[in-house]
Amino acid sequence: MVSLFTPPGKPNRLGNIYLKAVIILASFLLLAFVLLPAEARSRLSSTLGAGAGSQRVASPPSTVEEIPNIVHYVYILKDPAAQFTFGFSHFLSIFSAHHFLHPNKIILHTNCDSDSFPLHAAKNGTSGKWNKLIFANPDFNLEINTVQVPSAASNGKPIENMEHKSDFVRVAQVYEHGGIYIDFDVHVIRDLSPLRRAGFKAVSGRQLGGQINSGTFMSVPKSKVMALWKKKMGEVYTGGWTTHSNEVITAVGERLVRESGEMLIMEREAFAPGSWNNGDTDTLFRVHNDTKNAGVNVTDVFAEKARLPDFAEELHDRWDHPDRFEKWEVDWSRTYLLHAFTPDRWSHKVPGFEHITPRYVLERESNFARAVYPVAKIMYEKGWIEEADLNSHDGR
Ligand SMILES: *[C@@H]1O[C@H](CO)[C@@H](O)[C@H](O)[C@H]1NC(C)=O
Ligand SMILES: *[C@@H]1O[C@H](CO)[C@@H](O)[C@H](O)[C@H]1NC(C)=O
Ligand SMILES: *[C@@H]1O[C@H](CO)[C@@H](O)[C@H](O)[C@H]1NC(C)=O
Repeated sequence: MVSLFTPPGKPNRLGNIYLKAVIILASFLLLAFVLLPAEARSRLSSTLGAGAGSQRVASPPSTVEEIPNIVHYVYILKDPAAQFTFGFSHFLSIFSAHHFLHPNKIILHTNCDSDSFPLHAAKNGTSGKWNKLIFANPDFNLEINTVQVPSAASNGKPIENMEHKSDFVRVAQVYEHGGIYIDFDVHVIRDLSPLRRAGFKAVSGRQLGGQINSGTFMSVPKSKVMALWKKKMGEVYTGGWTTHSNEVITAVGERLVRESGEMLIMEREAFAPGSWNNGDTDTLFRVHNDTKNAGVNVTDVFAEKARLPDFAEELHDRWDHPDRFEKWEVDWSRTYLLHAFTPDRWSHKVPGFEHITPRYVLERESNFARAVYPVAKIMYEKGWIEEADLNSHDGR
């Protein structure tokens, strides 16, 4: 190789020093570049690339549409002049959405208007503590959207069942506004932003047996999934329990996976880890009154007005400290939304369990309690759970 600085065979001291300086400077620049934050590094390298006349094409602006951070609930009163009968578990669900999702809005779609008897009674506390905390909450403003409740499907079949009326309302509302729909027995246990921003127009999850569960789903406004579901549910409605709901969203949702970015279907554990089976409801709600680890003596806490402990769990704890966990304890790491199918509907008796009360959650003697404890703890810290509420699920 021919040196630029020295004629061959004639070593030059000055040239060597110059070469060393160049190498040191280059190494220093390389190191500085490597240590730059990733974002600055990619900006710098694209600038350098452009300066050198490279053919690099700037990446196109992102066209990914975020799913709006709006939470939708639906509750249809059978008698629109009656009172709301929400209890502790309903508020626990709404407050979990408020706490983990930081939504722009939480909307309740219902069949009474904001200037009606049921809403006045809820707000002034006449219909119980938890109704008041839902409708007149100091931390968030629950928006009331008065909806026309459909009395018949588009195929002419009358819709009698309240749950089915709710099915039609939820699909129409998420189609229109976009956002996240959750049933009142769904508890948010971590943020959904990564899923809302994943680049999919709609996200849903499977339930036991493989169908898509219609109790939790999210979508941008007017996505293909929602448009098809909205159209087809009215055409196929028979009055069958899930003909128009799970069955349609499963058929439509699975078909749309082939279209880039239209649909993401999550595994069962993401949104509906439990089920309506006796074994699954026992696993979720059963009270383990011989708990050794990480329980709370609620009587003592209230007597001493003490702080409730934190039970923060580190990534490696389950591997490094298995002794800190109960044998029955489910690891909720895979779960975003806990659809807690209640045993009441199937009149199955879960050992030791009656109702979702503040005491039941704060004592941490079941898998359900451990999943939702962090939200109940905040409610306690805000002074919303008093001693008199401990054993009552409806606050009346
Ligand atoms: C609460 O509101 C209901 C419905 O408007 C009303 O009948 C009741 O008298 C109110 N109670 C109080 C204590 O303000
Ligand atoms: C503990 O639970 C078992 C059933 O799971 C029950 O038979 C027993 O009476 C309970 N004990 C207490 C102290 O509640
Ligand atoms: C809570 O602690 C008190 C003593 O401070 C004890 O008498 C009581 O039995 C404990 N309760 C439970 C459920 O362990």
